[in-house]
Amino acid sequence: MAIVTSKEMFKKAYDGGYAIGAFNVNNMEIIQGITEAAIEKHAPLILQVSKGARAYAKHAYLMKLIEAAIEDAEQTAGFDLPICVHLDHGDTFELCKSCIDGGFTSVMIDGSSKSFEDNIALTKQVVEYAHDHGVVVEGELGTLAGIEDEVNVDADNASYTRPEEVEEFVTRTGVDSLAIAIGTSHGAYKFTAAQCTRNEKGILVPPPLRFDILEEVSKRLPGFPIVLHGSSSVPQEFVKIINENGGKMPDAVGIPEEQLRQAAKGAVCKINIDSDLRLAMTASIRKYFAEHPDHFDPRQYLKPARIAIKDMVAHKLVDVLGCDGKA
Ligand code: G3H
Ligand code: 13P
Ligand code: ZN
Repeated sequence: MAIVTSKEMFKKAYDGGYAIGAFNVNNMEIIQGITEAAIEKHAPLILQVSKGARAYAKHAYLMKLIEAAIEDAEQTAGFDLPICVHLDHGDTFELCKSCIDGGFTSVMIDGSSKSFEDNIALTKQVVEYAHDHGVVVEGELGTLAGIEDEVNVDADNASYTRPEEVEEFVTRTGVDSLAIAIGTSHGAYKFTAAQCTRNEKGILVPPPLRFDILEEVSKRLPGFPIVLHGSSSVPQEFVKIINENGGKMPDAVGIPEEQLRQAAKGAVCKINIDSDLRLAMTASIRKYFAEHPDHFDPRQYLKPARIAIKDMVAHKLVDVLGCDGKA
């Protein structure tokens, strides 16, 4: 199967009460770990590439690796793995155009830090070019706290999506999906300790997501796919392994998985996960180095890291996104 758009995936996800996982990719082991999980669980997949990932690995390497994953799925598992290749947080028309011209099937134009009118103008320009080339577009309204690629947004400046703006934005731009801000944020520190309570084990419990905003948005946009960024759960078992093996990640905290599951049952069709991949990989490598101080062959420590990614992604596909068996 060739690389596909997310159109069909989102329609089925919306109607079926589940979400597609959008995982950020930066190198071969990450792509292999994610796709091996998707093959095993028969799950549709979105692999997304940030501006930073493209600068790190180069567009052609990432495209060829993704094509290789599709070929491998077909040859080794006899499985047509549907993959949508998406630009994460595109910030200019030129970047989106370059990804569209280079074979991506979906792009995000993130005009969320601009005024409403400037966001509409930029998003519309990208949509016109993308649709002419059979590519779908994700827009964003509302601002997430944390780090959005190279844009740093502090918690005080984060603003939730205003439901009263969504119909006008979608109608005037023609976007195919919309990312909204309901309390998620990027990175491994999604909330300060002061914003959380602590459970009996001393683990931070964050404030709940704003499901009231999600509900209001989905009422105004019936059948329209909604996207959640900043949706890593920051599994505490990874944080513990990192901290026990020379790392320092105090009070790292993410979005509880039950809340993501709840969102996936409704209008949320795409859930973005990057930090959890980084944590799985880093925890595995730190542990490996601590246990094998004499090893220096990258294959020795990257192999368990790839397995850690596969196991984590398989769990998300089944227990959080609910998209296993949907490919
Ligand atoms: O939303 C941001 C993603 O986690 C991508 O991060 O810009 O460091 O590749 P990056
Ligand atoms: P996390 O940092 O929560 O993994 O979010 C990733 C993301 O939203 C990529 O666009
Ligand atoms: Zn994001």
